[in-house]
Amino acid sequence: MADRPHILVVDDKESMRDMLSLAMAARKIDVTQAGDGLAALDACKRRRFDAIVSDLKMPRLDGMGFLKELRKAGDVPPFIFITAHGSVKDAVTAMGLGASDFIEKPFDLTEFEFKVERAIEEGRASRAKPGEVEVKQPELKSGEVLPGLIGNSPQLIEIADIVKRAARSTVPVLILGESGTGKELVARAVHALSPRADKPFVAVNAGALAAGVLESELFGHEKGAFTGADSQRKGRFEMANGGTLFLDELAEIPASTQVKLLRVLQDKHIERVGGSESIKVDVRLVCATNKDLRTLSKAGAFREDLYYRVNVVTVQLPSLRERPEDIPVLVQHFLKKENAKQTVPEAVQALLKGYQWPGNVRELENALRRMIALAPSGELRAQDLPAEVQGGGGASAAASGLTGDLERIEKNAILAAMNESGWNQSRAARVLGVGRTALQYKMKKYGIQKPGT
Ligand SMILES: Nc1ncnc2c1ncn2[C@@H]1O[C@H](COP(=O)(O)OP(=O)(O)OP(=O)(O)O)[C@@H](O)[C@H]1O
Ligand SMILES: [Mg+2]
Repeated sequence: MADRPHILVVDDKESMRDMLSLAMAARKIDVTQAGDGLAALDACKRRRFDAIVSDLKMPRLDGMGFLKELRKAGDVPPFIFITAHGSVKDAVTAMGLGASDFIEKPFDLTEFEFKVERAIEEGRASRAKPGEVEVKQPELKSGEVLPGLIGNSPQLIEIADIVKRAARSTVPVLILGESGTGKELVARAVHALSPRADKPFVAVNAGALAAGVLESELFGHEKGAFTGADSQRKGRFEMANGGTLFLDELAEIPASTQVKLLRVLQDKHIERVGGSESIKVDVRLVCATNKDLRTLSKAGAFREDLYYRVNVVTVQLPSLRERPEDIPVLVQHFLKKENAKQTVPEAVQALLKGYQWPGNVRELENALRRMIALAPSGELRAQDLPAEVQGGGGASAAASGLTGDLERIEKNAILAAMNESGWNQSRAARVLGVGRTALQYKMKKYGIQKPGT
């Protein structure tokens, strides 16, 4: 039996601290209270806590300041922020600082207890000595930055860092990027690196299903809910219980289903189609889209409240042409996967590096498979690459037309974000959901400079 857990509750309102302490006592969890960040730091010097719950706005030293100081001092226990309703920006910053979760005011005690107990459990699991509790530590194979993800560009390394940190918590992750950039691989890595790795990973492609079907697919249905529903069926949320639900092509979700999804994220309960029972689900949501969700939500095509809910941690996957240094490692990886022993002639290497790859890694893999298939044992030949990769063809012109469009959109988005943020790169990067390094890279690429410099 593990010891009775002991947590620290930090809030400047005594009534709030008392209420939370009482709730915790009922769950056999001990509580130390602190009225501001400085008092909390003191408390942390005296003992180790299984989890910390802290308000953001406090006198003397606020929540962020407290977390920053604590980090300087060493290992931080699972850390949950209490944020005001709608202050998702704060929550995102807090996650960047290493908070493991946040809870929005006003919250109900059930949600609070649930999050604290989960944090305690996850914290204990990650501190356990080998053999005590099994902790999943997926080994990275050569060339991988994340399980299954090959590359060594600075952009991917930064993404791997975000994914590893986000994986420990249960906050929603939104993965953005063009088609074929590896969004699904990242979604699987989030799950594989999380404490939920041994629980189900369930994927749903919203773009592949008609509106009505999608809803019963997600939430299940009761017998007789609609014509053809001749038996009760569990939905993907229920199947993913305890694990991760990957919602692919998020932008394709119809408005009626967006409302329902928002409700699940808010109260962690679902109702089957045609049913009235409220079923509790504990699901970590990972979403992906190749659309510009921010613009869609600003234009009213995607619910803005849902956008903020699913977008707590954003992973923006760069296109392959933005990280050409990944091409050689990917080529080696795919050759090995195809069991090809040949080396890649320089002429071929040059073509692979020079091409724009509108279909990204998927297109690269297909091009290589084709080339290998056409010369199974002989020398790999440039003429066995698809015509567009060899250059000059009509297909290539069409492809670069598409690329041009995407680039124009991207450039405009960066300009808008920089203007909005008063040319503060860190802030603009956060708004865009990319790392600062990636933003600087793109600004250089598009020649974006502050007017008048
Ligand atoms: N970094 C990578 N390392 C190894 N394989 C990769 C990498 N990125 C993508 N792939 C491979 O490329 C293909 C496309 O990846 P994935 O399905 O994850 O892309 P996606 O972003 O979800 O694309 P779409 O938007 O079209 O669904 C897959 O076969 C995947 O295994
Ligand atoms: Mg995909």
